[in-house]
Amino acid sequence: MKLFGTMNNNNGILEIGGISVTDLAKQFKTPLYIMDQALIEKNIEKYKNGFKSDLFKTAIVYASKAFLSKGICQIVDKYGLDIDAVSGGELYAIKSSNFPMDRVHMDGNNKSLEELEMCIDYGIDSIIIDNIPEVINIQNIASKKDKKINALLRLNIGIDAHTHEYIKTSKNNSKFGESIYDNKIYKTMETIINSKNINFLGFHCHIGSQIFDMKSFYEAIDIMLDFSQKISLKFGNIVKEINLGGGFGVYYTEKDVAVDLEEASKLIIKYLEKSLKEKSMELEKVSIEPGRSIVANAGSTLYTVGGTKETYGGLKYIFVDGGMADNIRPALYQAEYEAAIVNKMNEEPSEDVSIAGKCCESGDIVVKNYKIAKAEIGDLVLTPTTGAYGHTMASNYNKCPIPAVVFVKDGKAKISIKRQSYEDMIINDDFIEL
Ligand code: LLP
Repeated sequence: MKLFGTMNNNNGILEIGGISVTDLAKQFKTPLYIMDQALIEKNIEKYKNGFKSDLFKTAIVYASKAFLSKGICQIVDKYGLDIDAVSGGELYAIKSSNFPMDRVHMDGNNKSLEELEMCIDYGIDSIIIDNIPEVINIQNIASKKDKKINALLRLNIGIDAHTHEYIKTSKNNSKFGESIYDNKIYKTMETIINSKNINFLGFHCHIGSQIFDMKSFYEAIDIMLDFSQKISLKFGNIVKEINLGGGFGVYYTEKDVAVDLEEASKLIIKYLEKSLKEKSMELEKVSIEPGRSIVANAGSTLYTVGGTKETYGGLKYIFVDGGMADNIRPALYQAEYEAAIVNKMNEEPSEDVSIAGKCCESGDIVVKNYKIAKAEIGDLVLTPTTGAYGHTMASNYNKCPIPAVVFVKDGKAKISIKRQSYEDMIINDDFIEL
């Protein structure tokens, strides 16, 4: 198992943020999401060091769908990043964290009228428009409120980035954005430009998630700039900004060669600057929207072993006290993770096992066919890299309470999100008439 950030093997027991996992388990129980605050900050710093230019303003917009809590909003705010939401719920959570709403951007392919109203009432920076009906809704709401709202249009640029089918977002038949290859886009642009209460700023794209090949980003930049030029020729110089979305790939297992966040940011800036010069173009601002690459490796899930089983077929299972309810990614995307018995860090991984959760589904396997030290009941198993799309995609399947999230740093641990209680899970549940 690869160690990340402040993870350290202290005499056979793993520590994160200077606290041993055995102490964390005792104090906060398991399953437990552990966030290494220093690693989140380091990742943000890498982006900040790399993603800056003398030619245009830059913004790093944290995609809150990866992980959202008051704690992460505090960190993102402290480092001066913007934040991206895709639903009323995310907007509400961000506002409740006292994050400055004028640094919030709203994405999403089907924003409700209520959500659009929230965007305008909360005074967010900009809406990323997805389609024509949305333009009309924004215009109607904004004009009733006598407000003008900044907007970018999400483009579908037809890039087929190398990633899992479900997390590809920019193929020609994707549900996201308006295709630049469809002539309808000019009508959409006209509608946006003619909307008095919309201040058009430029274009947005997001070519997918877990992307390792920089060529995909370069291709996206080429297409975005060429299209922006085409639009400026037709409608005047109206494209001031582009937003290139997120998607930078991280290490889950040895198969992944993680993107170096600082290096990748520098490469993107360099490519943009060169391309703008070659095309004699100017932009006021360029943004990126990383989510996973800021939080994934900083988060881990700690479980307790409740049992082991060797099947008649010869498969060895280790049963842990969580599973698909707190990490749906293996079942949904066949995502792979590493793992270790973290109270036995000095014991050689000797057994090929599958680590299974407690949900009533055969597919509830957290880690498949992985070598770990011999496990006994009561041992602690840790899966790293669950910091993105772990907690945010958790469910109450089988009425499993969503585990607590604890932030650790410099020997201190602070609960960021409390563990759900059984009572929390039935709070909205009421009797019916018989
Ligand atoms: N911007 C937009 C418009 C997006 O749709 C996404 C992710 C991001 C930014 C952030 O991408 P990131 O840097 O995190 O790759 N649940 C899936 C991932 C879905 C990503 C959806 N959009 C998973 O667990 O792999």
